[in-house]
Amino acid sequence: MYRFVFKTVFTRIDPEQAHHLVISGLRLGTRIGAGRVLERLCRPAESLQVRALGLVWPSPFGLAAGFDKGATSVLPLANLGFGHIEIGTVTAAAQPGNPRQRLFRLVRDRALINRMGFNNDGAAAVRPRLEEIRSQIAELKRAGRHVPVIGVNIGKTKVTPLEEATEDYLISTRTLAPVADYLVVNVSSPNTPGLRQLQDITSLRPLLAAVGAAADEAAQRHVPLLVKIAPDLADADVDAVAELVSDLGLDGVIATNTTISREGLQSDPAQVQAAGAGGLSGPVLAERSKQVLIRLRAALPRTTTIISVGGVSTGAEVAERLALGADLVQGYTAFVYEGPLWVRRINRDLRSALRSG
Ligand SMILES: Cc1cc2nc3c(=O)[nH]c(=O)nc-3n(C[C@H](O)[C@H](O)[C@H](O)COP(=O)(O)O)c2cc1C
Repeated sequence: MYRFVFKTVFTRIDPEQAHHLVISGLRLGTRIGAGRVLERLCRPAESLQVRALGLVWPSPFGLAAGFDKGATSVLPLANLGFGHIEIGTVTAAAQPGNPRQRLFRLVRDRALINRMGFNNDGAAAVRPRLEEIRSQIAELKRAGRHVPVIGVNIGKTKVTPLEEATEDYLISTRTLAPVADYLVVNVSSPNTPGLRQLQDITSLRPLLAAVGAAADEAAQRHVPLLVKIAPDLADADVDAVAELVSDLGLDGVIATNTTISREGLQSDPAQVQAAGAGGLSGPVLAERSKQVLIRLRAALPRTTTIISVGGVSTGAEVAERLALGADLVQGYTAFVYEGPLWVRRINRDLRSALRSG
């Protein structure tokens, strides 16, 4: 059904518009009472429950950052069976992002190129939404309903100079850490000029140390802190990040964000070129994402959480990431191509894979 709609409707309209249509549909469905039905259909089996970062996760598989940047659809998305939902990237100030068109499909590769540029409503607007969601979640939990873990991913406001990045991240941290199950410092989006320079250890060390301290102070508890890195880092830089994470006693790493590489694509090069600059995601990213995962796992103690993301489409692929040492796995692009029941299939196939593995 979704494939038919995708082919006949979505491929004819702007991908960003299709994204908003799907979200509106999900929210409408929830308002008219279909949420409960979806939840029953998609709820992950209890055997998929895992523990990580001091939390219980209903499934190791969750939704990567960027899909629900402003926490406007968390509960409708939760009904689809995600074990966690990472909202954001949120920045200190609201910003419109890059001019449209800024999201492109490469259907042959089941890939996307995006240069959204952190379009979001800003930390102050997102905070009350998360407060409301947390109180609804507490009620759902009491009623024994499926509730995902909610992560918050933060980034730098575009107009803030790189030298003032830490203060910018601290504004988001103080505002959002109290309403986050875990916090992610995103220094790996290719769409905010200069952002990825923050992955240099000399910039990253003071940034992560400051955010970690501010998060715990603002929330009056330990908020698990992770850093999200790019697949384009050289191996030596991945190792350096791992060393820093160990040094600082950070809770984990998310690997990886989208890539600026265009290698390995089957799509018409003219189509790829026409899309222009931005981050590439989807199956073409899987190989590098796995290499980074393997490298990180070799360098980090088992107690450091690794969330693997990049090119995952099936339950078997989620199982593979877990076998390679990931504690949790995320996806985004395959959701666009597979539709709302994708998560259900992932959880079902993951369960079989883990049973037979
Ligand atoms: C349209 C789009 C927007 C994204 N926005 C963000 C974002 O705001 N913050 C972030 O950390 N990652 C963002 N990502 C990256 C994803 O979270 C993920 O790391 C990447 O897409 C690789 O996973 P995938 O191949 O399963 O999509 C975005 C990805 C896409 C496709």
